Amino acid sequence: MTRLHDPSAHTFASDNYAGAHPEVLQAMTDANGGHVASYGADPYTRRLGEVVAEVFGEGASLDPVLTGTGANVAALQALVPRWGAVVCATTAHVYTDEGGAPERLGGIKLLTVPTPDGKLTPELIDRQAYGWGDQQRPQPLAVTITQSTELGTVYTPDELRAITDRSHAHGMTVHLDGARLANAAASLGVPLRALTRDAGIDSLSLGGTKNGLVLGESVVTFSEEARAGLVFLRKMDAQLASKMRFTSAQFLAMFEDDLWLRSATRANEMATRLAAALAELPGVTITQQVEANAVFVVLPVEVVEPLRAVHHFYDWDRTTGEVRLMCSFDTTAEHVDSLVADLRALLG
Ligand SMILES: Cc1ncc(COP(=O)(O)O)c(C=O)c1O
Repeated sequence: MTRLHDPSAHTFASDNYAGAHPEVLQAMTDANGGHVASYGADPYTRRLGEVVAEVFGEGASLDPVLTGTGANVAALQALVPRWGAVVCATTAHVYTDEGGAPERLGGIKLLTVPTPDGKLTPELIDRQAYGWGDQQRPQPLAVTITQSTELGTVYTPDELRAITDRSHAHGMTVHLDGARLANAAASLGVPLRALTRDAGIDSLSLGGTKNGLVLGESVVTFSEEARAGLVFLRKMDAQLASKMRFTSAQFLAMFEDDLWLRSATRANEMATRLAAALAELPGVTITQQVEANAVFVVLPVEVVEPLRAVHHFYDWDRTTGEVRLMCSFDTTAEHVDSLVADLRALLG
């Protein structure tokens, strides 16, 4: 095969613009060769089950899926019945960026709450948590939150506990979209289980690709109830990979020698470096706390396109000129400094 891209190219567009971590690619290579059983009945998926119990605690189950959207849909379907509704932030990926899959594919009504920083609180959840037994109202039976949030902010273990306590008191389960759970745990310096099982989370979409995997996410459940029907739903949602050994091998690599932590720490450190440098520049306003690997910033309108032409990043809010700069496991200090130098030159 002829290489068709520049392997030294770097952007601030998304952590899934990055390639795969070499240790992940090595794990896939090591899992290759010979025949093993398909659809998860392989030694890598079995070993992953043991590792997950070590990482998240006894009783935690991991079911690999293909995409984050698929993880969210299947996990939520397993949590709520046909008449159930799920409370989420208006900025939640499940609401804004999944093509309506939770609602259209999953058949789950989403009940949204606006939040300035991407985070829900017990009080915000209460705005939608009512009307049980009212036959006219979609029944709020679960909450989904995102860690780190779509706005790059992070829930502390105490904030999560407050949410799960309130939700459970309402008879609602709590799902965590952990596409960037690793970044949140790295940022807080806590183990993954402190932000999930130990905080009362029922079901987790565990991110892989944004942390350096080629392909694959997982649903991690912390009780038999949260996992009920999940394996059937995974198949029905077209999320069951036949050659699952390769997805599982990637997650094994992610957990080995804390690769997840090394990768997330680097991405977070680069976002911190970027934010610190941007804060010094005139006319540049950082709009969110930088707590993980994303920096949200309003730039003077005339510099956005020339800067984007070199470093590529996405608009977040066109009405305010806010853009999102995302760092990845392979972002280096030189990448950050180069963006800052170009911006400084454009600002004159
Ligand atoms: C918070 C969050 N959840 C879920 C997803 C969905 O992942 P996928 O693109 O694999 O469906 C993304 C992807 O950007 C995300 O940022």
